[in-house]
Amino acid sequence: MQLPAPRGPLTDRLFAELIRPPHAFDPPPADPYGGSSGSEEDAQLALFVCYELHYQGFDGVDDRWEWNPSVLALRERLETWFEGWLARRVSRPPAPQPREVPRALAALVAADDGPSLSAYLRGRGDAAQFREFVVHRSIYQLKEADPHTWGIPRLLGRPKAALVEIQSDEYGGGRPERMHAELFRATMRGLGLDDSYGAYLGSVPGVTLAISNVMSLFGLHRHHRAALLGHLAAFEMTSSLPNRRYSQGLRRLGGDAGSRRYYDEHVQADAVHEQIAAHDMCGAFAAQHPAMTGDILYGAACALTLDRLFAEHLLGRWREGRTSLWRADAEVTTR
Ligand SMILES: [Fe+2]
Ligand SMILES: [Fe+2]
Repeated sequence: MQLPAPRGPLTDRLFAELIRPPHAFDPPPADPYGGSSGSEEDAQLALFVCYELHYQGFDGVDDRWEWNPSVLALRERLETWFEGWLARRVSRPPAPQPREVPRALAALVAADDGPSLSAYLRGRGDAAQFREFVVHRSIYQLKEADPHTWGIPRLLGRPKAALVEIQSDEYGGGRPERMHAELFRATMRGLGLDDSYGAYLGSVPGVTLAISNVMSLFGLHRHHRAALLGHLAAFEMTSSLPNRRYSQGLRRLGGDAGSRRYYDEHVQADAVHEQIAAHDMCGAFAAQHPAMTGDILYGAACALTLDRLFAEHLLGRWREGRTSLWRADAEVTTR
């Protein structure tokens, strides 16, 4: 993956350091983010790039930057900013009794009244909008399941076994062609999109990057392990029905079975995953850690809120007849 174009002083400075051999540098000023939406784009992208050093990295960026103290110092400042960003948008649900956690998760999901992107794309979205949607989703779905995998060594016993069971399906159960990320690549190819990892990083706005950033934040900090599990549970519990609609929308637009397979696979798989995630994973973790039930629910609430912000962004832009991608001139490159 290539480093994208900078979006402000933070990414400008960070990228200039990263293309050199690893060295110490003074982190940019404590609060370069101001609060304007332009600087928010800059901060989300800077944080995404810091996190990506723990996944596949970037062409021309030395792998040893991953644990460089100057990058970690910058990342910590960005995380403090991002945690505040989340706290202003996500209200913290009350902490349930441990045995009530699966039910509280279900109630949180049921109470979610955000706009339905999947209903729009099933019935009305055009092919260009579906392609934009897939471009956004590619940022996470080409590394599908990786951020939650950070949770495995942080767990013991039943919740660990449950997380491994879910992740094993996400990674294709030993068959590379069944990995969900690979199924998604087939969807991208079917739509004429570039299916290489991170090809569209420069094309997506901060709200899309935030969806990945929250998973990396929760995954890379043991302190947030309960939120990570709640986040995954919310993902799985809100997947089956929307994926059925995405598949129906893609069929309406002429997508063949191979292009739709990613969505069809999730209709079945996630109907099972949601049970495992809510009961065997979150429920069992709550029994082990009764003081962390509020964190489980908070992680779920973060997933739901970011999904709502994402849907509002796409539907809002499309209603205005505009692109939902970051650069108004973004020419989504095709293969
Ligand atoms: Fe999946
Ligand atoms: Fe799943």
